[in-house]
Amino acid sequence: MKFYLTTPIYYVNGKPHLGHAYTTVIGDVIARFKKIKGYDVFYLTGTDEHGGKIEKAARSMGKSPRELADEMVPHFKNLWKALNIEYDFFIRTTMDFHEKRVAEIFEELKRKGHIYKGSYSGWYCYNCEAYIPDDAEEVDGVKICPDCGGKGEFITEENYFFRLSAFRRPLLDFYKRNPDFVKPPFMMNKVVSFVEQGLRDLSITRTTINWGIRVPSDPKHVIYVWFDALFNYVTGLRDKFDKYWPADLHIIGKDIIIFHAVYWPAFLMALGYPLPRTVLSHGWWLVDRRKMSKHLGNVLDPHILIENFGSDAVRYFLLRETPIGQDGNFSHEGFIERYNADLANELGNIVSRTTAMAVKYFSGNLPAPSPALETDRRMENRWKEVEPEIERAFENYEFSKGLSLLWNYLRGINKYLVETEPWRSGVKSPGRTSRILLTCFKALHASLKFIIPVMPEAGGKIKRALSSPGEFSWDAYDEKRKIERLDGLFPRVDKAEFFKEEKDMEEKREEKTYVTIEDFFKMGLKVGKILEVKPAPNADKLYLLKVDMGDHERNLVAGLRQYYTPEELLGKKIVVVTNLKPARIRGHESQGMLLAADVDGKPYLLVVPEEVPPGAIVR
Ligand code: MSP
Repeated sequence: MKFYLTTPIYYVNGKPHLGHAYTTVIGDVIARFKKIKGYDVFYLTGTDEHGGKIEKAARSMGKSPRELADEMVPHFKNLWKALNIEYDFFIRTTMDFHEKRVAEIFEELKRKGHIYKGSYSGWYCYNCEAYIPDDAEEVDGVKICPDCGGKGEFITEENYFFRLSAFRRPLLDFYKRNPDFVKPPFMMNKVVSFVEQGLRDLSITRTTINWGIRVPSDPKHVIYVWFDALFNYVTGLRDKFDKYWPADLHIIGKDIIIFHAVYWPAFLMALGYPLPRTVLSHGWWLVDRRKMSKHLGNVLDPHILIENFGSDAVRYFLLRETPIGQDGNFSHEGFIERYNADLANELGNIVSRTTAMAVKYFSGNLPAPSPALETDRRMENRWKEVEPEIERAFENYEFSKGLSLLWNYLRGINKYLVETEPWRSGVKSPGRTSRILLTCFKALHASLKFIIPVMPEAGGKIKRALSSPGEFSWDAYDEKRKIERLDGLFPRVDKAEFFKEEKDMEEKREEKTYVTIEDFFKMGLKVGKILEVKPAPNADKLYLLKVDMGDHERNLVAGLRQYYTPEELLGKKIVVVTNLKPARIRGHESQGMLLAADVDGKPYLLVVPEEVPPGAIVR
């Protein structure tokens, strides 16, 4: 009964954000759940420190890559601590044993003929550290990276190649035998069709990069960062490899599925190692409907959420809000609503009411309960029905579903309290009051099996307040357990108050950054009329607009497609920032920007009265 699970190792070119927290929280919840079920768990996380991306980031900050990594690692470790993450080892790819082992593995695969030397020419994206596929879009003779939209560079390299093409059949056979290898199933389908289309050999060394592990037998070559990084899952186990390999679960974001579900098993097959059992692929957290990324500067600092709401609430929200596999859109509003509805009003409320009554009426020692009535038995039966369903959902990593079932049940407990009114029977009918409270405590106690992994702090407090025994089942709890009062688990947050504080802070920030009228007049703002609206061929959120500016026309790229139909936009007069440096967005040049009001990520176009002609200056 061992369970070995991993997170991706994170790049150290910036501090961790909510997206990184998401992957690591999922892993921690699974690790804790498995431990409760008696598994011997090993949970690995760490940092990916080599490669051109890090080299470039360090250079732009005037640091060595090593200095940058040393500086960033504590940010990751501190965040994991603040989120109550219990990992077993934190691997850094710059650790000696890792570098040594990766170099050995490389030589071994070379000896066995899985790696050969060749030359490769192609368009390369330095931002993504990957070659751009042949069918990618080309603008002015330059290939555009389909992932980040950046310009490619044409390079020719003498490289070592991994004979990936030879693994097409073995991989397809493997997927057939293990249809659950990738979860959720729609991601498995993507992987299969990727492999079915054919696999090209993979270039796995670079001579253009210095920062990485050198090939021992040919040191001008540095091992490709993904080959290096993936093997952390093997090296990170160190002397525990025999005990824990193969990995039971790799948790990753959907952007790195091909690396984990195609390249990684192929490398392992070549080495003759057993393959991982499952790759769980989650979606992205979006802010303003865009993926958080350092590049876009829209990253959410999880520490701010933790300070305001506590780490349990952040963990709960991340798992409850969005089913794993789908994208989630983050808003503070949504966060507070869920916090108040589920944590303050339901769980927090049940715990504080019931423990308060047990202490007030019976000093925390429930007297002998009277026999259960139909209403009490209904709560027990309902639990016994729903518990296996929640369990199944958790086993299947469907936390949003599991928690939704659990909270439906907890809402039922609150209703049960309202119906049975133990505050009326009180000390007058101690047997009846005891029966009602005991039913609630049994329910809370049994729920701990699911609450503790998700919210270890609150779960631990409830466990202590109820003096819960180790086994989280309905029947394991009885009236002989001492109850302590537990209040204020999740204090209600006043939404208006919260936003007022945020607004005050924002206003302060604004004051500090006054601009002069001269600064303001540097802005070119003019009225434009939308002449043409076309969906961007390679980006489902973008429109390509043609705008009449009075004396000329301009092309703008705008992320309005989810909010406006072309008909709604055509003919509208809008405000355009005319002297913004032209930018390439997904390969299309945008010659300016249109203005819109932002309400929780949703844009509302600023529309100018009909009589204003295109080209009119706005000030
Ligand atoms: N270093 C590689 C992984 C190597 S694993 C052998 C890497 N690092 S990363 O720091 O860019 O991303 C790590 C993980 O964070 C990925 O699983 C990615 O999907 C996840 N997230 C990054 N931004 C995210 C969101 N906005 N939302 C959710 N998760 C996202 O890739």
